[in-house]
Amino acid sequence: MLILLLPLLAVLLPGSNPANGVQEHTSFQVIQISFYANQSWAQNQGSGWLGKLQTHGWESESGTIIFLHTWSRGNFSNEELVDLELLFHFYFIGLTKEVQNYASQLQFRYPFTVQVRAGCELLSAESPRSFFQVAFEGSDFMSLQDTTWLPAPEGGDQAQKVCDLCNQYEGIKEMAKSLVKNTCPRFLLGLLDAGKMDLQRQVLPEAWLSSRPSPGSGRLLLVCHVSGFHPKPIWVMWMRGEQEQLGTKEGDILRHADGTWYRRVSLEVAPAEAAGLSCRGRHSSLGDQDIILHGGHGLSMSLIAVAVMAPLVLLAVLVLCCKKRW
Ligand SMILES: *[C@@H]1O[C@H](CO)[C@@H](O)[C@H](O)[C@H]1NC(C)=O
Ligand SMILES: *[C@@H]1O[C@H](CO)[C@@H](O)[C@H](O)[C@H]1NC(C)=O
Repeated sequence: MLILLLPLLAVLLPGSNPANGVQEHTSFQVIQISFYANQSWAQNQGSGWLGKLQTHGWESESGTIIFLHTWSRGNFSNEELVDLELLFHFYFIGLTKEVQNYASQLQFRYPFTVQVRAGCELLSAESPRSFFQVAFEGSDFMSLQDTTWLPAPEGGDQAQKVCDLCNQYEGIKEMAKSLVKNTCPRFLLGLLDAGKMDLQRQVLPEAWLSSRPSPGSGRLLLVCHVSGFHPKPIWVMWMRGEQEQLGTKEGDILRHADGTWYRRVSLEVAPAEAAGLSCRGRHSSLGDQDIILHGGHGLSMSLIAVAVMAPLVLLAVLVLCCKKRW
């Protein structure tokens, strides 16, 4: 409910800055996706994520961690990172072997996919929450609770059997628990600190307008583009004076290669209504200042220009062609 309310509040309180106080990066997790094609062929993908930002990849041939940012090592020493790399490498090899050994006994039918997400979340510095969850064919299958594997209801009998099996390996459970309970929060704090400059950088957006006839309707599609901003949270709306235009359609926020973001919002109007509309944007990098682009007038002017110019250009082309023929 709160998630639904937040955008609503942002809309209802135009004075508040929705980009302030948003904590985007308070979790770290490792995601594993393993595809088992048959008894002899499997593929493992691994990645590390700080919130929604990917920080690590996994080169499964050589068993090495790919550090995607200069700060992806956090404050861990090379020695500790190499130890973790070895641990993941043997984990992937061992797991693949075990799954293939037990597949027929546990009635796993090839091909199938196993997904794992394991990590920690800092609700407050004193009480990190950790998680270790396994999904089979896209559904919850089992999870590690303290040092016990518990089946998910969706996993049925099969999940119960796998948990019974896994619960016999005390050493592995202890290690998994230690990774998400001790190593993860320590790594996450170090990562947040090392990446601070990058994560907290404020980059001003650029904004521009475009418009085109909306196909078939005789109406105009006004588009407001906002690009190159950081961090991700932003508010952009088509307005008439202080009135938000409810027909505004928000596009997804897309990521540029340099880590900044892009968003477009559009509004369909009758050509006569375009005058007096403006696009308004709010972002943490702008402080209390809003971006306001007055579109309506300019837009209708440029459309008039197009309307006048198009037949002229056509006429010119015709004249040229005909001249050539003659
Ligand atoms: C196993 O799957 C791989 C990848 O799809 C395929 O190339 C290979 O021929 C399969 N092997 C057997 C024994 O079915
Ligand atoms: C890294 O930073 C965290 C948080 O500041 C700290 O707890 C930890 O001891 C530091 N060093 C290592 C090697 O984890």
